[in-house]
Amino acid sequence: MNEKHGFARAHTNIALLKYWGKINSDLILPANDSISLTLDKFYTDTEVTFSDEYTSNLFYLNHQLIDVKKMQRINRVLEAVKSEFGYQGFAKIESENHVPTAAGLASSASGMAALAGAAVSALGSHTDLTNLSRLARLGSGSASRSVFGGIVHWHRGYDHQSSFAEQIVSEDQIDLNMITIVIDRRQKKVKSTLGMQHTASTSPFYPAWVEATNQAIPEMISAVQNNDFTKIGELAEHSAAMMHATTLSSKPAFTYFAPETIQAIKLVEQLRESGIECYYTIDAGPNVKVLCQSKNITRVKRFFASYFDQDQLVVAKPGSGIKFTKN
Ligand code: DP6
Repeated sequence: MNEKHGFARAHTNIALLKYWGKINSDLILPANDSISLTLDKFYTDTEVTFSDEYTSNLFYLNHQLIDVKKMQRINRVLEAVKSEFGYQGFAKIESENHVPTAAGLASSASGMAALAGAAVSALGSHTDLTNLSRLARLGSGSASRSVFGGIVHWHRGYDHQSSFAEQIVSEDQIDLNMITIVIDRRQKKVKSTLGMQHTASTSPFYPAWVEATNQAIPEMISAVQNNDFTKIGELAEHSAAMMHATTLSSKPAFTYFAPETIQAIKLVEQLRESGIECYYTIDAGPNVKVLCQSKNITRVKRFFASYFDQDQLVVAKPGSGIKFTKN
């Protein structure tokens, strides 16, 4: 039996300047560039075994076999990797998510990056990270950024080759932390893929969103390179507010916010006015993520602990890029 194994660990990320909308949904080419922070606490471990004995792809998530119908994006990544290496067999994928449900964070970014990484390391002899970012992108847009640690820029590009992420600074070059306020642990009602598609096709504000985000990219890059926390926070908060404004202006309108989301936004503003610098960002769900510098983590956490339960507050620091082993 001819088997090839590969293993990868990839961390999830939070976008500081958001990706929200595609110009090509088969290739997952985004309408705008985006910039993210890779997080240390949350990651996915994936092992891929290719074998000429298998008759179909099998996917186990946290030791449970997943229905083949749900595997469209996984198959897309596997097919792309196989065609690059001229391999014809099938694969068994065993994936374990270390993204605590309590954190309310999406795992598709770390999951698809780890899948692409494990598949490439099983079949290839060396790994080109830029190319890995392209392959991860075919599984989920945000996964293209999870290949790298620290702060990462996803170039939107115009075809498969030109759309990939790269690191701006590494995890030890940036003082930026994230405290998640978990408002709702359940899966989001409108998944990002659908939410962004509906917004892009119906919101009259959408073209302005794309333009404003692309304009903010060079400003964010220089803020990151100068470790300018104030500028990073202001740009990130504005990006989140704009993204959520596009959902409210879509037709029919919708929002990811829960009442407690607004409450947490107001608390972030209040804390900032009292002299402790922090900013919020929010993805396609009700949970609020608070950005702060290391010197303020304890104070920020203590402040929010008087409004939310301890287990609703999860701290994360900058995380590293993808790691592999091959055997
Ligand atoms: C709000 O990467 O989950 O988190 O490419 O359709 O899989 P697909 O979408 P996904 O969308 C992420 C949206 C976001 C913003 C971001 O991470 O940039």
